[in-house]
Amino acid sequence: MSANETPASHQPPAATRDSAFLRACRREPVPHTPVWFMRQAGRSLPEYRKVREGIGMLDSCMRPDLVTEITLQPVRRHGVDAAIYFSDIVVPLKAIGVDLDIKPGVGPVVEQPVRSRADLARLRDLTPEDVPYVTEAIGRLTSELGPTPLIGFAGAPFTLASYLVEGGPSRTYENAKAMMYGDPELWADLLDRLAGITAAFLKVQIEAGASAVQLFDSWAGALAPADYRRSVLPASAKVFEAVAGYGVPRIHFGVGTGELLGLMGEAGADVVGVDWRVPLDEAARRVGPGKALQGNLDPTVLFAPREAVEAKTREVLDSAAGLEGHVFNLGHGVMPATDPDALTRLVEYVHTRTAR
Ligand code: CP3
Repeated sequence: MSANETPASHQPPAATRDSAFLRACRREPVPHTPVWFMRQAGRSLPEYRKVREGIGMLDSCMRPDLVTEITLQPVRRHGVDAAIYFSDIVVPLKAIGVDLDIKPGVGPVVEQPVRSRADLARLRDLTPEDVPYVTEAIGRLTSELGPTPLIGFAGAPFTLASYLVEGGPSRTYENAKAMMYGDPELWADLLDRLAGITAAFLKVQIEAGASAVQLFDSWAGALAPADYRRSVLPASAKVFEAVAGYGVPRIHFGVGTGELLGLMGEAGADVVGVDWRVPLDEAARRVGPGKALQGNLDPTVLFAPREAVEAKTREVLDSAAGLEGHVFNLGHGVMPATDPDALTRLVEYVHTRTAR
């Protein structure tokens, strides 16, 4: 089999392949604009908080029963067009032995930040045996989901590096950028190693049955285009290239990436995620032809009354009217205090308004 041939066993069943979500990703005509929400699993749902009671975030990611239940919850409740696998971007790092935890209200915290070549040497490759719970949970999910597609995901090399080098969340990324500017070789080797780990993690998810994947480069918007092109794009492109042969849609997302949209398209994804700062018609000009777009309602709009949500949603849909492929989403993840009913109403509104 040649590198670009899709292994037959990784084609989703026909009904999934024909879903509105996968059709939109492939820029084919759709019966309605598909909708899903980043961070739809967990966060705002009371049934999520209930099953998570007393169980740490990373522990819950390693329990196929919980992962399956939490992934299904928003599909049942909101009728979204795709499920996203319940996990976190730091799970593959934990799986290769990095000493880290996810602190509630803070985010990922790394015990010993990666600052030197000796630190880099601790990051080994990931194999499917490191994440058996992922394979098991996705196997259960694909049978429970029926035709609804499952999106697998991973953190992009830059966003993972930002946590590893800083040791935790940051607003400025001064340690990561100091390595990028001060020791470009170590930086390039770190991102390349992370690209290998990320690609391996996405392959596990696709081979287990995920029918699309999203690369979260949430914090790439902190970079100037020239730095992104030189010091980050090659590693993200390596991830996309590594999974190209499966033929599943590859989505690329970041926040504050208005100036990077063209480069993010160049990195090789099939779908580019857009935050709320750039209207979708303008984003399409920046990304260029041949890609679908995903986005881009400001997640804070959901705190406004229904009429305002609908008006802002119409703006997004109008701006997407000329696109070849549009997946409706928020411009970033669901905020924890969001009223779940507002999400359900939003799904209905987009479906009704775009029914063809
Ligand atoms: O989309 C989904 O619903 C799937 C689950 C998912 C989680 N994390 C679960 C989670 C996904 C896709 C992620 C990705 C993720 N994790 C990103 C990229 C997406 C983005 O928002 O930009 C990033 C940057 C992380 C790192 C991370 N993990 C942060 C910043 C936090 C929040 C810390 C907090 O409590 O405010 C986490 C924790 C996390 N990941 C939670 C969930 C449901 C909350 C933890 C909890 O419920 O105890």
